[in-house]
Amino acid sequence: MSNRTFTMIKPDAMKNGHAGAILDRFIKEGFRVVALKMTKLSEEKAGEFYAIHRERPFFGELVEFMSSGPVIAAILEKDNAVAAFRTLIGATDPAKADAGTIRKLFATSVGENAVHGSDSDENAAIEGSFFFSGLEKF
Ligand code: RTP
Ligand code: MG
Repeated sequence: MSNRTFTMIKPDAMKNGHAGAILDRFIKEGFRVVALKMTKLSEEKAGEFYAIHRERPFFGELVEFMSSGPVIAAILEKDNAVAAFRTLIGATDPAKADAGTIRKLFATSVGENAVHGSDSDENAAIEGSFFFSGLEKF
């Protein structure tokens, strides 16, 4: 169990004006911000980030969506960060997400679901390094 996870506020939440509320929620839930930046993924970089889903039917849509506008990427720290953060964001499909979760409150659809959260300690480390150098982590 590690104490760091990686997240992105996805293009739908950015366009819909929810970035401030979502960042506020991260902090109020006790996550410390280790690294933070606003950036935009190219289609190539979005495909690399979600390469594990390359064979899935939604891969093309996912890449197009994730490269459609800026995102806010962050590394967050809290005890049991990966699991605690997945609980905070809720199910992939906002229709199935628990009341009060970030996806229930802010997601548009199963594809455009407001936030990313790492699914394991190993992937949290890989994804954090995909976006941030050592000099950008505090
Ligand atoms: P994420 O990786 O973004 O935190 O989401 P997740 O673990 O909850 O879900 P995952 O299975 O890893 O899927 C990655 C992202 O692909 C899009 N998706 N679209 N149209 C669909 O049926 C579908 N299923 C997944 C979502 O953006 C999902 O978050
Ligand atoms: Mg995932």
